[in-house]
Amino acid sequence: MAPFVALFLLLLFVGDLALCNARWEGIPTTLDGPFEPVTVPIPDEGFRGHAVDLPPSDPRVRRKVEGFMPEQVSVSLSAEYDSVWVSWVTGEFQIGDDIKPLDPKTVSSVVRYGRVSHLLKHEATGDSLIYNQLYPFEGLQNYTSGIIHHVRLTGLKPGKLYYYQCGDPSIPAMSDIHVFRTMPISGPQRYPSRIAVVGDLGLTYNSTSTVDHLRINKPDLILLVGDATYANLYLTNGTGTDCYSCSFSQTPIHETYQPRWDYWGRFMEPLVSEIPMMVVEGNHELELQAENITFASYSARFAFPAEESRSFSTFYYSFNAGGIHFIMLGAYISYNKSDDQYKWLEGDLANVDRSVTPWLVAIWHPPWYSTYKAHYREAECMRVEMEGLLYSYRVDLVFNGHVHAYERSNRVYNYSLDPCGPVYITVGDGGNREKMAIHHADDPGKCPDPLTTPDEIMGGFCAFNFTTGAAAGKFCWDRQPDYSAYRESSFGHGILEVANETHALWTWHRNQDMYNSPGDQIIIVRQPDKCPVNNPRKSSSRRIYSI
Ligand SMILES: *[C@@H]1O[C@H](CO)[C@@H](O)[C@H](O)[C@H]1NC(C)=O
Ligand SMILES: *[C@@H]1O[C@H](CO)[C@@H](O)[C@H](O)[C@H]1NC(C)=O
Ligand SMILES: *[C@@H]1O[C@H](CO)[C@@H](O)[C@H](O)[C@H]1NC(C)=O
Ligand SMILES: *[C@@H]1O[C@H](CO)[C@@H](O)[C@H](O)[C@H]1NC(C)=O
Ligand SMILES: *[C@@H]1O[C@H](CO)[C@@H](O)[C@H](O)[C@H]1NC(C)=O
Ligand SMILES: *[C@@H]1O[C@H](CO)[C@@H](O)[C@H](O)[C@H]1NC(C)=O
Ligand SMILES: *[C@@H]1O[C@H](CO)[C@@H](O)[C@H](O)[C@H]1NC(C)=O
Ligand SMILES: *[C@@H]1O[C@H](CO)[C@@H](O)[C@H](O)[C@H]1NC(C)=O
Ligand SMILES: [Fe+2]
Repeated sequence: MAPFVALFLLLLFVGDLALCNARWEGIPTTLDGPFEPVTVPIPDEGFRGHAVDLPPSDPRVRRKVEGFMPEQVSVSLSAEYDSVWVSWVTGEFQIGDDIKPLDPKTVSSVVRYGRVSHLLKHEATGDSLIYNQLYPFEGLQNYTSGIIHHVRLTGLKPGKLYYYQCGDPSIPAMSDIHVFRTMPISGPQRYPSRIAVVGDLGLTYNSTSTVDHLRINKPDLILLVGDATYANLYLTNGTGTDCYSCSFSQTPIHETYQPRWDYWGRFMEPLVSEIPMMVVEGNHELELQAENITFASYSARFAFPAEESRSFSTFYYSFNAGGIHFIMLGAYISYNKSDDQYKWLEGDLANVDRSVTPWLVAIWHPPWYSTYKAHYREAECMRVEMEGLLYSYRVDLVFNGHVHAYERSNRVYNYSLDPCGPVYITVGDGGNREKMAIHHADDPGKCPDPLTTPDEIMGGFCAFNFTTGAAAGKFCWDRQPDYSAYRESSFGHGILEVANETHALWTWHRNQDMYNSPGDQIIIVRQPDKCPVNNPRKSSSRRIYSI
């Protein structure tokens, strides 16, 4: 008995401390920075990824259910550990002329759930909806979705497995039993073990490789930083291309092929029916249709803690996962200081209690600090508008996508190295069929003309030439900028492991590597004493209270 107990204790000790610390040993921390910029060279000039989409015939994207049986099942978080959303689709989409939308009221939205798989003793009901993607142009086909269901479970316990089944028990049409784990309760000592971050995923064979790698890393939570399906690289007749504007410059409207959303929902189900995924919109989700309607599929298919985080918007919201407060921001709706999103952000930041959620992580689609030529300084108006606010609240870490490559910044604020600025990480390298970004704005002859850089959707021009630093008077640096710590053009995903209120390990995994070998690693160290929150609201509200 004694040797067994000793071995058990040793295993506990080794598992909890020694192994964990050993894994972190020798990895640089942000305190060792700012780092000399590193560029990992690409294999050759022709290297652009060449990712190929899964065809509709692939078993992973084909409809596997009949009638009103649930499919495309997914879980996403509400604002706190005690609540999650379960979403799914019933019934078949229609595409063509003469489509007749299904009546969402005909199929009910029920989730049965519980802590043991054979006793799903709780039941929650929710809402259902459909959306249409309409193109009032000669020859284009319209789409109407299956019935999309969203049900919010409440009263859940932290860090526990819950089994669930969703559907309409009266038909009967209930899904298989799935299982997910709730987030830990918020507090400075409690964190999800591993959080996966992936962007610009698409639905190519390379996307499937990314998802395989991500799954092997056993995340507790997945963050998708925008650009999910790339359904808008297709015409409504199902013909796709690697470059929409090159292939279809004459179309009356930028078409989409909405069935690709259903393919994507099916492909993702095995992963996201068990691991909660949180999504923020990218430009590929815009999908303009009749009557200037945008983001219809994105807003209908995903569940967001919009009401729970008081944003009442599918475009920006916040939530807690253990001791981390996540803020998802919308780059393709107004971010101006006078508008709703900014005011919501001020209020949300002012309400964050850093003794409960020490870590503050912000996520949006187009990066502010990318040094690639593609989308260089494209989101500059958003940066000018919002950077000061995020900095004053000491956002620790920012995740972006959009640029199809990987990059990690040194701590930076307003283009200057700053020990209290966030670390910016671009992971738009999920493997979609568009080309990979390989050129840098500082490569000879690659600096874009400033006037070509603003994003049409985002509007405005704010990317003026630098007035300070090594690139003063110019639009681009002539070498890798000092705010860029590491950049590499490869497909992959990242894993964030927060250890405690000051230390987190970030690992970027490349698809071409063995499952567990890291491409880039950094320990992100918070310094709350050196970088105290500079909360403009608090000082003013204190004045109000003292009156
Ligand atoms: C994309 O996937 C294909 C196999 O489907 C592979 O040959 C290729 O190397 C991958 N590309 C990258 C950039 O990883
Ligand atoms: C698609 O919907 C639009 C708007 O309702 C309509 O004008 C158009 O005729 C429809 N197209 C087809 C092919 O049914
Ligand atoms: C779809 O339309 C494009 C452009 O008109 C055409 O080139 C292509 O052959 C069509 N595809 C199908 C499947 O009809
Ligand atoms: C759509 O938006 C454009 C540009 O903002 C505007 O000119 C047009 O009138 C709008 N159309 C409708 C149907 O609202
Ligand atoms: C944001 O404000 C700027 C001027 O401050 C203005 O040019 C721009 O149109 C505004 N954007 C939106 C979406 O309101
Ligand atoms: C950022 O830097 C620019 C150029 O040095 C300066 O004009 C601007 O005032 C700075 N913004 C903030 C918020 O400090
Ligand atoms: C901005 O910098 C570019 C070079 O990067 C230069 O060609 C251009 O003249 C500069 N514009 C202004 C207004 O100084
Ligand atoms: C936080 O975790 C890091 C890495 O495991 C460790 O070195 C550090 O001592 C921990 N700090 C606290 C306050 O627990
Ligand atoms: Fe994008």
